[in-house]
Amino acid sequence: MTAVAEFGHLPQDLRPVAALDAEARIAHIRAERWVQHGAADRVLSYLHEAFEQPPRERMENILLVGESGMGKTMLVRKFERQTAVPFDERAGLQRRPVVVMLMPHQPTEARFFDQLLTALNAPSAGHFARGFPVQEPAVRLLRELRTRVVVIDELNSLLAGTPRQQRVFLQLLRFLSNELRLAFVGVGVPEARHALLSDGQLRSRFTDVELPPWSLGEDLRDFIVRLTWSLPLRAPSPVDSPKLRRLLLDRTGGITLGLCKAFERAAVAAIRTGREYIDLSSFEDTEIWRGVATRSRNPHPQPRDHARREPA
Ligand SMILES: Nc1ncnc2c1ncn2[C@@H]1O[C@H](COP(=O)(O)OP(=O)(O)OP(=O)(O)O)[C@@H](O)[C@H]1O
Ligand SMILES: [Mg+2]
Repeated sequence: MTAVAEFGHLPQDLRPVAALDAEARIAHIRAERWVQHGAADRVLSYLHEAFEQPPRERMENILLVGESGMGKTMLVRKFERQTAVPFDERAGLQRRPVVVMLMPHQPTEARFFDQLLTALNAPSAGHFARGFPVQEPAVRLLRELRTRVVVIDELNSLLAGTPRQQRVFLQLLRFLSNELRLAFVGVGVPEARHALLSDGQLRSRFTDVELPPWSLGEDLRDFIVRLTWSLPLRAPSPVDSPKLRRLLLDRTGGITLGLCKAFERAAVAAIRTGREYIDLSSFEDTEIWRGVATRSRNPHPQPRDHARREPA
């Protein structure tokens, strides 16, 4: 066993992990973990604002858009954890202030409520196919569990419905919002913006929030440092370099999924080879990039508002 005190380059809580054997450390690297970053902080603050608004006739909703793999689902799960409350012993209930559900592939009312019941862990979930009524128990449960925000992930699936199905569904959202005075957070790829267009009244109650692809700037620099801190390598990794950041953006198109995958692979390789750190050369290995697609439609993202350009 290696002495934990050695790993001063890692955050306190990760030092004991760095002392574990190779397989345990690789398992840690492959497990899902949340790495905080600037854009996520900003989006989370908007979500908390929506959460804090008092119940009223006209609730403000949010439409969170971002390319596939930017981290939208992980972010709304984080929001759900941040707003979770302890089990209510007196009522014998687990209240659910925020519920994250998945938009069904067929946007019918019955399937929507069924997905909602599934997200609420209701025993009645899955019964829609047998013709059981689902709207009433779902609405009752939302009241009972004191739900204030319903997050609908993959809202873009709504676009798979017929125009009529889409209109009916949006009316349903409007009804639920008025009836229960809860806020909705729609989540999806940028096309999801089209999903709300056919209902102007509802559209005006949604504010767009974006998780944009990474660009050169402080946010990316900071994210890479934090990402590296989440990897239990035994030696410090010199990853704070503009050249490395440029290479990462070129290869990933600024998509978080690609960045995370490359760091995970580089870290696993660093453990297997006994090198124990990652640097620019780790990412010059083509094996690291296997299957990482540049999926952004903007392959050379430039800094936006808050980000600034770095010197060569
Ligand atoms: N904050 C983060 N911390 C650590 N890893 C992250 C973070 N954000 C994204 N990732 C990585 O990116 C991957 C993709 O994230 P996620 O599934 O949330 O993307 P998405 O935007 O929901 O994509 P899709 O539109 O395809 O559903 C995650 O599995 C994880 O590896
Ligand atoms: Mg997702």
